[in-house]
Parts: sequence; C-alpha cells; structure tokens
Amino acid sequence: MIRTLDDMDFSGKRVLIRVDYNIPLADDGRIADDTRIKASLPTLKTLFEAGAKQLVLMTHIGRPGGKPDPKLSTKQVALRLMKLLGKTVQHVRDCVDVALPGTPVVVLENLRFHAEEEENDPEFARKLSQNGDVYVNDAFGTAHRAHASTVGVCDHLDGCIGRLIEKELRYFDVDKMHQPIITILGGAKLETKLPLIQRILQKVDKILLGGAMIFTFYKAKGWQVGDSLVDEQNTLMAQMLGNNEKLVLPVDVVVAKDPDDGEHARTVPAQGIPSGTMGLDIGSDSVELFERSLQGARTVVWNGPLGFVEKQPFDKATKDVMGYLSGLKEHGVTTIVGGGDSIKMVEQLGLAEKFTHVSTGGGASMMLLEGKPLPALRALE
Ligand code: 3PG
Repeated sequence: MIRTLDDMDFSGKRVLIRVDYNIPLADDGRIADDTRIKASLPTLKTLFEAGAKQLVLMTHIGRPGGKPDPKLSTKQVALRLMKLLGKTVQHVRDCVDVALPGTPVVVLENLRFHAEEEENDPEFARKLSQNGDVYVNDAFGTAHRAHASTVGVCDHLDGCIGRLIEKELRYFDVDKMHQPIITILGGAKLETKLPLIQRILQKVDKILLGGAMIFTFYKAKGWQVGDSLVDEQNTLMAQMLGNNEKLVLPVDVVVAKDPDDGEHARTVPAQGIPSGTMGLDIGSDSVELFERSLQGARTVVWNGPLGFVEKQPFDKATKDVMGYLSGLKEHGVTTIVGGGDSIKMVEQLGLAEKFTHVSTGGGASMMLLEGKPLPALRALE
C-alpha cells in the first residue's frame, strides 16, 4: 500500500521532497515553462497546513552527466518557486554535505551534478536522506527512474507520495480508461521508444506515430530516409511492428537540410526522403490521416511532439493536431497530453483548459500505460 500525505504526520518535521523541476529551458537559459513548478504547489501547501517545520526540495534538471553545469543549476527554479509560493525559498550550493539554512523552503542543487544519483548509490542516498526527517515523492515525471533520490532514499526515511503523483495515478489507470483508447506517440528520445510501442500496442486500440522514431520504421520498410535520425539497433523490431494494423504511420514528411534550414522546408511522400535532407515534421496529409484515425476514440493519450518543435516551421503538425484535440473534450472524449515539450506547447497556445488532463510525466506515464510498476512507487510500498 502506498501512503499519501493524508496518512502521515508532518507536524514539526523537516520534509525532504523529491520534485520534478526538470523544466524546459530557453536558448538564453531562462525557464521556458514552469508548469512542473506550479504542479508541485498543492503538495507544498498541504505540508505547511499539516504543520511541517521546513520543506527541503530536491530535483534534477537536464542531463549534466554527473558533473556540475552552471546552466543547469536549480537557482532559478528556487527564485520562481519563491514567487509562486509566496514564502522565503533559499537555494543551497549542493545536495549533500551541506548545512541547511533555517528558511521555510530550501532548494538543493541539481542532483545529477553527482553521478551517484543516477547510479542509485547507497551512500549518496543515505547522505541525501540526512536533509529531512520524512520523505515525500511528488516527482511523477521521474518516477520511472530508479535513482538515489527516488528509490535509494526510501531505505532511510519513512515516506509517501504527494498530491501530484496521486492525481496522475488516477488519470493513468488504464483499466478505468474509456475505450477505444488511442495513443499519439512522438518525441526524439529514440532509445527506449520501440520496445515501449510493442508493449503499449497490447493495451490500446491504436498508436499514431510521429517524431523522430518514424524514420526507423521507414528504413525498415526499405524506404529512402536521407539524413533523418534512425535507431539502427532497432530496425528489426521496427520491421516487425511496422506491419501491425494498430499502428498508424505518417504518409508524408516535411524535410530540410537541417533544423536551421526552415526556409527551404518542403513536404515529400514518406517513401522518398531525398538524400541531403532530413525529416523534421510530419506533413499535412498525415495530420488529416491522424484526425480521421482519432474519430471514435473515447480516450486519447498524447506523449511527445510530432516534429522538431524547437524550430519553425517544424512545429506545425504538432500545433495542428493539438488544436484538433483541444476540441474533443467538449464532445466527451478524455484527452490527456504529457511530456515536457508537449506541455510547453499546450501552455504557449493557451490550450491547457481544453484538455482533460495535462500530465507532467512523459516516460513515467508511458510506463503506466504499459501496465508496468514505477520503481519510485514500488520503493515506497
Ligand atoms: C522527464 O522530463 O522525462 C523526467 O524529468 C526524466 O528525465 P530523464 O529522461 O532525463 O531521466
């Protein structure tokens, strides 16, 4: 049984909280979207109401690879949190072996400045645990990672989940989702996506594929992919999955020389990406195909952008499909969108209210869809 904030006593305690403030950063290093910071507020407020003496927050930002990187410091999230929460928040220069100030809220430095975090090193986890009397995990976005701050620390402190994880678990209960369920899957993280598709196909009625992974499927079909990103290790699996009738692949692709070559972007059939170009978005025929494929769905779960959304015009298909989806909630369809880049776009377009649920989790929500237990939750059981 996993406990929630309602099952524990926080009165007079220092609460060590794992949050997921792995927020998207703009080119100039500033916070591009603070949805994940806002999403942690209900937990922080509940803990103060329950009499907690001090909240000590820990998070990672980005993938600094076990070394300090000033661009990925948690300093600016501490400042943003102070504004949002209306309490004094102090940032400290490391996450272990530091003396904590007496402020109501403390934000520790980026956990991933230490390689031991991702290695789930027991000594590092013990040191982290010294920053609190009890532990709360509210980092839904990182709950699929077995790291020192999500798993190891549970060996040392009594703990529970926060309000955000509680809410996310309610939305990602596949057994309770209305069928048919259609998943839209995009994004650039190739490594883990193909095995994931294989497992999710068993749980949902259709998967509409976008993002960089489509080129591995094209390559597996023997089509020309030019300079597009391909997951060479998984072409066999893509060949096998590519024939599954539940899988919908884009039929046209927007190509250019590279992501900075937007002014020469043009749409080509998926079968023939010219050499010297790479696929950077799905085309308008594919968007229409996706909209037709979504008809009849009662639940739509979307994770990851369909193109290289950081650069225009390769954000077009993602915006178009997002616009279409935002009209479905009022027709009784449950629409869930998640993953860092997708949330940022929903916010930028002012569409958050038009979705049933905007999830803070990418990989974690996909793992729930697969029906797999999240390591961070298992550690709390
Ligand atoms: C996320 O944004 O998906 C989570 O914070 C996990 O980040 P990671 O993929 O770098 O572990």
